[in-house]
Amino acid sequence: MLKGRSLIEPMDLSPEELDEILDLADKIIINPAAYADKCRGKILATLFYEPSTRTRLSFEAAMLRLGGSVIGFSSAESSSVAKGESVADTIRTVACYADIAAMRHPKEGAPLVAAMHAGIPVINAGDGGHQHPTQTLTDLLTIKSLKGRLNNFTIGLCGDLKFGRTVHSLIKALARYENIKFVLISPDELRVPDYIREEILIKNGIDFVETERLENVIDTLDVLYMTRVQKERFFNEADYLRLKDSYIVDNKKMSCAKQDMILMHPLPRVNEISVEVDSDPRAAYFTQAKCGMYVRMALIMKLLGVE
Ligand code: NCD
Repeated sequence: MLKGRSLIEPMDLSPEELDEILDLADKIIINPAAYADKCRGKILATLFYEPSTRTRLSFEAAMLRLGGSVIGFSSAESSSVAKGESVADTIRTVACYADIAAMRHPKEGAPLVAAMHAGIPVINAGDGGHQHPTQTLTDLLTIKSLKGRLNNFTIGLCGDLKFGRTVHSLIKALARYENIKFVLISPDELRVPDYIREEILIKNGIDFVETERLENVIDTLDVLYMTRVQKERFFNEADYLRLKDSYIVDNKKMSCAKQDMILMHPLPRVNEISVEVDSDPRAAYFTQAKCGMYVRMALIMKLLGVE
């Protein structure tokens, strides 16, 4: 039963529950009109203490397309946080007005704290460099739609694997499917955190390699997931500037990739994928953005217990 629960990290969902959400998203894609009134009278609060385009707007569009309404704020400065209010007090207040909340916060663990005080479902819409479970739902729906399965493939994750929360959540979720091989491509300083390498990959006997060179491995990949170097998590501007353009996928690199590889990116991109690649049929990042809305419709319905 998903009703009434919060979603803080991908492991909060069993593989069966995850499938349930993806299946519902598929049904919504086929016949969106049948869902247009499902959340009539319900209110979603979007509490965004960090910038966002896709995540916040797709959450809001999702609720509106279900017939519900949306309240919220899109920066910490425009709420009482600027006066020093705690996350716990903010969410207790918001819970008086809304039925469900999505929260993005620069501090890791803030949405978990909110969930503990809320009394309504809280969805983590990204907490610092930690987790981003709804981006993972988006990514899984995209892979399933385009490749027809969530098992038996080699996925390359490339860029900022240290601070990139979308990568951490995606590894956690995909590690539960059969025969997934991870190729982790990053500069040495931006390798995945130890807890991902040790607690998820090594502990579960999952096949993975780490490399600094995309061109050496691109031809082996079924999925290539590019990420932005997370500027806002760097302590030092010089390090960011040195690392920010470590990887750029262009048509030349794509010519070495499999014909049926899919190229993903949670967006926003900075320089990681040249715009010339956008017209390549393997470019899946805008499809991904669209999947994000449908999967959030499915998630909202499940957590509110609407059938
Ligand atoms: C990502 C995020 O916020 O973690 N964006 C998103 O939600 N699609 C990726 C990023 O900011 O680089």
